Amino acid sequence: MIQTGIIKIKDEEFFELADLIFKHSGITFTINKKYLIENRLSRLLHELNFTSYKDYIYYLKYNIKGKSEIQRLINLVTINETYFFRERGQIDYLVEKVIPDLILKGKRSIKILSAACSTGEEPYSIAIALKEKKLTEKVRIDIIGVDINTDVIKTAQEGIYRSVSFRGVNPQIISKYFKKEELNYLLSDEIKKMVRFMQGNLTDKLLYLKIGKCDVIFCRNVLIYFDIDTKKVVIEHFYNNLNTPGFLFLGHSETLNRLNNNFEMENFKTGIVYKKG
Ligand SMILES: C[S@@+](CC[C@H](N)C(=O)[O-])C[C@H]1O[C@@H](n2cnc3c(N)ncnc32)[C@H](O)[C@@H]1O
Repeated sequence: MIQTGIIKIKDEEFFELADLIFKHSGITFTINKKYLIENRLSRLLHELNFTSYKDYIYYLKYNIKGKSEIQRLINLVTINETYFFRERGQIDYLVEKVIPDLILKGKRSIKILSAACSTGEEPYSIAIALKEKKLTEKVRIDIIGVDINTDVIKTAQEGIYRSVSFRGVNPQIISKYFKKEELNYLLSDEIKKMVRFMQGNLTDKLLYLKIGKCDVIFCRNVLIYFDIDTKKVVIEHFYNNLNTPGFLFLGHSETLNRLNNNFEMENFKTGIVYKKG
């Protein structure tokens, strides 16, 4: 039987582990997050038969098998909170203004990146909103969801959700695009096939070669986990990877202030979109 008690992490172990997490994800953990690490990793340490973080860190760094454990570590420490039609005003602006304008400019195909898509609610909300506005009949749309966490990517690909993912979503939309089976909501195939998912690290330049140039990027509620230099790197990748014109939506508590001067700001009713060109 696997033990489940909390294994305490010493300060010096915490800093070493935080360095490893940073190196592989860009996520910054400060010492006040010790409890989070202990809560999320103790079970794993028991499973691997480690009684201290010192041994676990040594294993991660120097054992050949430790390399694949890094992904498990990242999966356990990321915060994956998300829900359908989060910050709805941005999705409305996308389908009411941004995409129609691109179509008017003669665009034949449009690529939208949901960067840090977690379990898929964000890219699928975009797909549903585009479908509802019948924009999918006017232009070829390619939606890509990327996240560093392989577990959330798997859930996104399955497209099976619980009611907690639908805070305040119109019940008509739920019954139109989901089939209820006991406690599960199964996303319809027509929406599922509009989105493709890939695992990737937003700080990694090579990821953007795989994605190709985009017209719109949603990157919401992830920059808050990065330090200023990492934020700058990620935003620079976005800028280089956007077509002209290109549009970047950030989370409501996030801004490009002090990060990048190349974007113009476009205000709309409920927020700001950053525009290239
Ligand atoms: C709070 S969720 C945001 C989900 C969604 N964008 C939203 O706003 O509802 C943050 C996501 O960022 C992902 N993440 C963290 N660091 C990342 C990185 N370096 N590259 C890609 N995804 C990352 C996490 O795995 C997590 O799923």
